[in-house]
Amino acid sequence: MRTSTADPRARRRPGARGRGEGPIYRQIADLFEDQIRRGVLAPGERLPSVRALATERSVSIATVLQAYLQLGRRGLVEARTRSGYYARSPFTERAPRRAAGSARLQPQEIALADVIDRMLAADPAGAGGSFGATVLGGDLVPTGLLNRLLREAARRHPEHLSTYELPAAAGGLARQIARRSAAFGCRLEPERITITCGGMEALNLALRAVASRGDVVAVESPTYYGVLQAMEALGLRALEVPTHPSEGPDLATLEALFRRRAVAAALVMTNGHNPLGFVLPEAAKRALAGLAARHEIPIIEDDVYGDLPLRGPRPGVAKSFDEGGHVILCSSFSKALSPGLRLGWVEAGRHAREVRRLKALTTIATANLPCLAVAELVASGRYERHLRRTRLALGDRVERVADAVARHFPEGTRLTRPAGGCVLWVQLPRRRNGVEVYREAARSGIHVFPGAAFSPSGAFPDCVRLSCGGAWTERSERCVRALGRIVQRAG
Ligand SMILES: Cc1ncc(COP(=O)(O)O)c(C=O)c1O
Repeated sequence: MRTSTADPRARRRPGARGRGEGPIYRQIADLFEDQIRRGVLAPGERLPSVRALATERSVSIATVLQAYLQLGRRGLVEARTRSGYYARSPFTERAPRRAAGSARLQPQEIALADVIDRMLAADPAGAGGSFGATVLGGDLVPTGLLNRLLREAARRHPEHLSTYELPAAAGGLARQIARRSAAFGCRLEPERITITCGGMEALNLALRAVASRGDVVAVESPTYYGVLQAMEALGLRALEVPTHPSEGPDLATLEALFRRRAVAAALVMTNGHNPLGFVLPEAAKRALAGLAARHEIPIIEDDVYGDLPLRGPRPGVAKSFDEGGHVILCSSFSKALSPGLRLGWVEAGRHAREVRRLKALTTIATANLPCLAVAELVASGRYERHLRRTRLALGDRVERVADAVARHFPEGTRLTRPAGGCVLWVQLPRRRNGVEVYREAARSGIHVFPGAAFSPSGAFPDCVRLSCGGAWTERSERCVRALGRIVQRAG
């Protein structure tokens, strides 16, 4: 059994006082996570004793304990009474298996409206103890600051009420988005950005710009139910592309579909996929943009979770590799800032004019006041500060829920380890039924979303999605324990 830091390279890695990013306990946790994932520390091996590591790293015992607690929440170590901390097999080895149904590659009529309507009606959007809707807990929304910015904007621009689109509003926000776009590898031009009523309007406009009733659109399997709902309403059919829980959509399949011109467009989530949580590597984003350019088939890139990586810097987007304007980038301030502002945006490349036209004939313009307030928030640098705090908190919340699932759900449960966003995708053991779990849980006031809502072919009957944006409380622990019992009983 090893009792000191296993990898000599570790001594030069973050974790030593004052180097690397984020709090020291997190750096130490990251270091051991890296070793466990690379197999340098094998499952069952002992980590250095708390005291030895504290001395070796010149940090306090409390810091090491916090690092080990963090690793426990990530499901990577377990504490054994009076014996120390031991490595466990990482969550990736317990990742959900791909569903056989997702490999059918047939266009599907979508008939999920009823399931989804009932699911949404049952969930009081982010109420305490809810693992349903993907919203930040109220404590992470900078309510005081946003209200102040809204009041200031109203005072400075009283004319915001007497016109549809105030140039200083939508235009000002588009300029700030364009400025920020360097952070995700783009050089967007403000004139080409359309501000929308949330990401949902951006996605609707993009779909309508590139596909007509009866067309087939490639989607990941599983994918965000809201997109399926929008496609159903537009009379579009879905073709589910097999999607690996951590590596993303199968690009060879997508290429084959593009080559056969079997789809009018593809819709992908490159960062913080909902529900799988992966962040696609840069090479895959480049490949996606290349596919769109080579085959001249548009790719709609949904990046609403892009500002919420759970580890590392803000990831780039496929749009940054788009040279011919074939990638339509859709995003939103709902997930990282506030869903109630209803602010999203779309940069539609060569479809920009059509998107503008469709926006004009659906909602005409976006409310001026939220645009003014958020433009000021971004311009002043306070948005980036808010993001730093939110990412840390969210990372912690996701880990707490994952840890509780690992402790309370029956043997054989599989779950993702998200790299971005705020949801966990849980595959229940022995083909337990996710809809039954969701119904039974709702009767006890606990909200999860069933896997059935994320695939038109019904490829994930044994999965549920847990949203982790809410503050972790004793009630959350009780709810996950109760969920575990419900899963145990579900047939
Ligand atoms: C992947 C994804 N795209 C888009 C949206 C919609 O975003 P908005 O609330 O800004 O309309 C959501 C909301 O849950 C989402 O999860």
